[in-house]
Amino acid sequence: MEHGALDRYKFHASEYAVQFVESGMVVGLGFGSTAIHALHLIGRKIEGGELHRIQAVPTAESIEREARQSGIPVVTLEEVERIDLTIDGADEIDPELNLIKGGGGALLREKIVAQATRREIIVADHTKLSPRLGTKFDLPVEVLPFGWGSQVEYLAGLGASSSRRMVEGDQPFISDSGNYILDCHFGPIGDLKGLARALERRAGIVEHGLFLSLASEAIIAGPEGVEHLKPGSSE
Ligand code: A5P
Repeated sequence: MEHGALDRYKFHASEYAVQFVESGMVVGLGFGSTAIHALHLIGRKIEGGELHRIQAVPTAESIEREARQSGIPVVTLEEVERIDLTIDGADEIDPELNLIKGGGGALLREKIVAQATRREIIVADHTKLSPRLGTKFDLPVEVLPFGWGSQVEYLAGLGASSSRRMVEGDQPFISDSGNYILDCHFGPIGDLKGLARALERRAGIVEHGLFLSLASEAIIAGPEGVEHLKPGSSE
């Protein structure tokens, strides 16, 4: 797929989602090459006087910097009662709008923000749609650096081969919360809830990239145009 076309789809998905942002809202700002378009569009609407009194909760430190540069007022979760609407990306999306996230390593804050959000809108290009999670993308799992090797063993027991995410060749990727990311190859995942439970009961596993029943809707753009999906509507 030509990169330019894919980026246009990402832009169109974000542009569609931004129409749901209203003045006075607390907005969650997602991470990634798709949701960044939404951030910039919101910034432009604030600058142009089309949106007022927006307060934004960023899902990553880099997104916080980007929001400030774009003139979007940033708040912490402690300063607001709730998040009205979040626009975030995803790495893989199934027909129920369950997601794999964490390709950018921001899954922990993304999940905290998603769980505090009334309306979680996922924006993506059509290549992210998948019949079953794990078909297209390995599952990112955030682990404490302490004892991380023992998590590789644990994950192998659950059926995954995993590798620690690296940057610049030989340096481990460090998340905003100071943790490592293990990219876990499960293949197509049959029992999403069972796997989520198994990951959640293990000490040292901080969070995983399975976002189950957290997306209210998804805006998917591709060669056929923009689709607005609700859970189950793409089956
Ligand atoms: C970040 O950790 C991820 O969950 C992103 O939301 C996801 O990787 C989507 O990114 P792109 O929009 O760049 O594909």
